[in-house]
Formats: sequence, C-alpha cells, structure tokens
Amino acid sequence: MIKKKFDNFEIKQDDLVIIIDILRACSTIVTALNSGIDKIIPSTNISEVQNLKFKDNEILIAGERNGEKLPQFDFDNSPICFYNNNLKNGKLALTTTNCTKTIEIAKASDSIYFGSFLNFKNILNLLSGLDSDKRVILMSAGYKTDESEEDNLFAYYLTQELQELRNLKLVNFEIPPEFEGLSNDNMKQIIFKTEHSKRLISSGKINDIEFSLIFDKFDCLPYYANGSIKKK
Ligand code: MLT
Repeated sequence: MIKKKFDNFEIKQDDLVIIIDILRACSTIVTALNSGIDKIIPSTNISEVQNLKFKDNEILIAGERNGEKLPQFDFDNSPICFYNNNLKNGKLALTTTNCTKTIEIAKASDSIYFGSFLNFKNILNLLSGLDSDKRVILMSAGYKTDESEEDNLFAYYLTQELQELRNLKLVNFEIPPEFEGLSNDNMKQIIFKTEHSKRLISSGKINDIEFSLIFDKFDCLPYYANGSIKKK
C-alpha cells in the first residue's frame, strides 16, 4: 500500500517498510553510501545534527528545509553533491523536510529499507524473495502533508515489475489511470513536471532530478537499524 496520510495507520514490528523519497533523500542516501559514507544518522532535528558535529568534528552533516541547503551544513540533501566524492569511512548525519520524519514513523517496524531508481533492482530483488504472507508497506515520504507523484510513480512501477515476478495482493493501492501502461520515458517526463521537481528546478537543482532518475546506477540496499542507515 502507498501511505502518506499516516494517521490511523499502524505499522507493525513484522512489517517490511520501503521508504520512498525519489527527490531527493533516498537518492542521496544511496549515493552517499556509494561515495565512502558507511553510516548515516538520520534526524528530524537541525540542532541535534549540529550538536553531533560539535561533539565529533569528523562527522559530516547534510540537510535541507523546503529543498534549500541548510546554512553551515557540509552538504545539501543532494545526490550530485555526494557523487564522485571519496569520503573514506565517513559518518554522515542527515536531516530533511520529509524523509527523516517518515523514518521516525517507520521505526515501529524492524525492517526498514530505502528505495530509489538508483537502486531499483536491489529493492525488486528484496521484495521478490519474500514469503508471500509478508506485509510490505511502500511508504512515500511525500512533501509535507501531500503525497508526491514521483514517489507514487516509483511505487507503481515497482508493483508492476513485481506482478511480473509473482502474484501480489495489493491493498490500499490505487493506481491513477494516467499511470497505466507508462513507459520509462513517459514516467521520467511526468516526474520532471511534478510539484517538487518544479521547486527543485526553480532553485537550480535540475541535475539532482536527472541523476535520481538513473535506473540501477548502484548496487546498494540501504537499511535502517539501531539509529543509523547502512548498506547491506
Ligand atoms: C525531503 O526529505 O523532504 C526531501 O528529500 C526534499 C529535498 O531535499 O528535495
């Protein structure tokens, strides 16, 4: 199911949650973990992240609010900023407008993973290998109280690919008619026109969108456990 309106929705310990935030947090997480970062500490709180840096100057900090890099932070929440960096054994603390809040809600589950186009195959492989009675929640980080069309498109595309591999029982999953039968190229064109893409384009971040739409750039399955995100 796709959830953005999390009220009255109970995530259980046994559920497997895939957090989806294509633009941009999940794409940043996947890219950072492939650029030498081996541990990401997510936080919803800007001062908490600054305190982590204060206590340990080696730690890198990345974050945004409303799509804009936080002043005095080392990095924006931007996959492009991390790509081609060699941040050996780096530790990163990350705070974002929506994704890090979504992680807080997802914490009721023992199995939390992060999905993006950049690691699409890893998510597909994970889900296609599960027992058929496992409940999977596709949790779109969305934007503030709204769902994000780009995250829903990703979820749609993922479920289509999974249907090919195994029989799926979809619950609470409404497919907007305009998504039916979309090709990759059409999907990318729609993503460029979403509200969040418009926001990012207007602040000069079109490269982040283009980069986030590359399929399977990395072999990376990020998971959350004990307060941090690492890759399997
Ligand atoms: C978020 O978590 O709100 C985002 O990934 C927004 C962004 O930085 O584009």
